[in-house]
Amino acid sequence: MKVDVILGLQWGDEGKGKIVDVFTPHYDIIARFQGGPNAGHTIIFGGKKFVLHTIPSGIFHHQTLNVIGNGVIIDPFILFKEIDKLIDAGMRPEKNLLVSRRAHLIIPTHRLMDAALESNKGVSKIGSTLKGIGPTYTDKYGRNGLRVGNITDQTFSQQYQKLKTEHLEVIRHLGFDRASHLLDGLDFDAYEAKWFESISRLKELQIIDSEVFLNKSLDQGKRVLAEGAQGTMLDVDFGSYPFVTSSNTITAGVCAGLGISPHRIGKIYGIFKAYCTRVGSGPFPTELHDSTGEKLRIGGNEFGSTTGRPRRCGWLDLPALKYSIMLNGVDSLIMMKADVLNPFTTINICTDYRKEGEILSGYPFELSDERIQPVYKELKGWSANLDDCKVAAEMPADLSDYIKYIETEVGLPIDTVSIGPDRLQTLQR
Ligand code: GDP
Ligand code: IMO
Ligand code: MG
Repeated sequence: MKVDVILGLQWGDEGKGKIVDVFTPHYDIIARFQGGPNAGHTIIFGGKKFVLHTIPSGIFHHQTLNVIGNGVIIDPFILFKEIDKLIDAGMRPEKNLLVSRRAHLIIPTHRLMDAALESNKGVSKIGSTLKGIGPTYTDKYGRNGLRVGNITDQTFSQQYQKLKTEHLEVIRHLGFDRASHLLDGLDFDAYEAKWFESISRLKELQIIDSEVFLNKSLDQGKRVLAEGAQGTMLDVDFGSYPFVTSSNTITAGVCAGLGISPHRIGKIYGIFKAYCTRVGSGPFPTELHDSTGEKLRIGGNEFGSTTGRPRRCGWLDLPALKYSIMLNGVDSLIMMKADVLNPFTTINICTDYRKEGEILSGYPFELSDERIQPVYKELKGWSANLDDCKVAAEMPADLSDYIKYIETEVGLPIDTVSIGPDRLQTLQR
């Protein structure tokens, strides 16, 4: 068997959580391969809403196992907050949750470092979620990190103290005492104590060599789905650097983040919104600063699932979408939030970027260049409510035309269309 993949093609928040949950009944295992609690994946069913940060979005289906892979970074405090919320809702997430021994730990001072580094960037700040993502991946690649497998070492607390001392040294060097004031006055000592309580609880979870487990499961014919976090345009190599996250969010990240050979990658689902959003700083060619942008934000409830920040909104960006499709080798597209465009009589789609009168051929190295302007094609909106649309055949003709236009432009089928946040509001074409 092969590992199928679902990942975001834009700047994150495409609706990965919802779709992974919808697809989960077709899989035995759902595995996260990168990112950490910077992610916020929303799942809504039966009138209840859950937001997951570290736990894979298959957790609501008890027969499916959920693996936090080696490429993920884990803040145990946040992980157990998530687990406790699920327990409060009557679930037993520890039963079908498995954690890689090789996943790196976000320690409390990683969060302080994130805040201090971000603060020192001044006007060029990235708009990080301040969950410690950059500093933790820096320690991973700098070969200083602590891994889940280390928590049972006799010397774990010494290893922790050593890393913490190094971090505090750097933070002082950056001009801060502890930088807690940058994190809403975080009570560091209380946070650290809770973090250690979570470490004790982590020891009770099923800690595994996930790379071996996943490969054996494939050998046994198990169906595995890899769940991406963030989006392709936030990829550390191919996103709008430096306004990116610190991991490879693309299909290639699945191999390193789960220990899967490229030969074992199966179907690749790329997920995008019918328009675009971005949270945090960085270039966004189709951003709308006017009332139309506000209409998308309010209609789409575009406020961050992790930080609550208003998301920046704009029209669909085909040059970025085509670039993402190329990077990921997408086989099948999933278009989200079509319903948010219901009230629009006309809808714009960016077909190209123009710079000083010239249409750009490739994807630009420096997207921040203010001379890069979107070229739009205006399409007719469907001006209809989609609530009664239960199957794809019932879609308004103008929505079908919108979909067909995108399919023709990018050369791939849009097999799934989401028309609302609930599990049930999903159409297969
Ligand atoms: P993720 O990070 O990719 O999982 O996406 P988020 O959960 O951060 O953001 C997607 C938001 O859109 C959530 O609030 C979802 O409940 C919501 N959502 C998902 N699909 C749809 C849809 O088709 N229509 C509408 N209106 N909302 C949706
Ligand atoms: P999901 O999985 C949207 C953005 C942040 C910031 C940049 C770097 O829910 O789609 P980081 O905390 O990684 O240092 O932030 O990346 N960002 C996201 N934006 N969705 C996400 O995850 C994101 N994770 C990080 O806003 O601009
Ligand atoms: Mg999100």
